[in-house]
Amino acid sequence: MPSPQNPSFADFSELDASSAPALHQLHRACFSQDEVWTEGAFQAAIEEPSHWGVVQFDQQKSALGLSVMRTIADECELLTIAVHPENRGEGLAAGMLAQVIHEAAAAGLMAIHLEVAEDNPGALRLYENGGFQKAGRRPGYYRRSKDQFVDAILMTKTL
Ligand SMILES: CC(C)(COP(=O)(O)OP(=O)(O)OC[C@H]1O[C@@H](n2cnc3c(N)ncnc32)[C@H](O)[C@@H]1OP(=O)(O)O)[C@@H](O)C(=O)NCCC(=O)NCCS
Repeated sequence: MPSPQNPSFADFSELDASSAPALHQLHRACFSQDEVWTEGAFQAAIEEPSHWGVVQFDQQKSALGLSVMRTIADECELLTIAVHPENRGEGLAAGMLAQVIHEAAAAGLMAIHLEVAEDNPGALRLYENGGFQKAGRRPGYYRRSKDQFVDAILMTKTL
């Protein structure tokens, strides 16, 4: 099997509503309670024709990595990307990002947008390596505790 460092696009599955429970389990392992997508949220997103993305499963059909995208007119938005804590640092997120960039370009889309918390250096590096550029900032967009807020950095990649 090709390693995630050198991902073959065939390693990734397209999103499918039957995977919603596995996607929710992965999200739960990756995000704080108020950021986790429920099974229903994944199901609803996958059923929307505008939503698409990739997932990587292990042999037991547990999700190791996921990325969900939404197309709006001739652009798209990266809504969420996550890799299970036990599978990080192996290039899986970089591989998924390369795959969704490839699919967006192949579909004729003009740009990909995303938001990332300023206190998430791993994700910022992932996106910068993927060719995304900082395009703006939403002050205090993410709440970390009762009185602690963190800015969102808006990033864009032109295709
Ligand atoms: C961010 C996340 C998706 C990265 O997944 P990953 O599979 O470990 O990332 P990769 O192995 O593909 O690494 C991609 C790049 O990001 C860098 N990176 C990843 N995690 C990092 C960290 N914690 N600190 C610094 N750099 C990091 C890697 O070094 C690599 O850059 P390099 O090639 O220059 O070394 C993963 O840590 C995660 O799921 N985090 C929780 C959810 C999250 O924050 N999602 C993003 C929300 S915007």
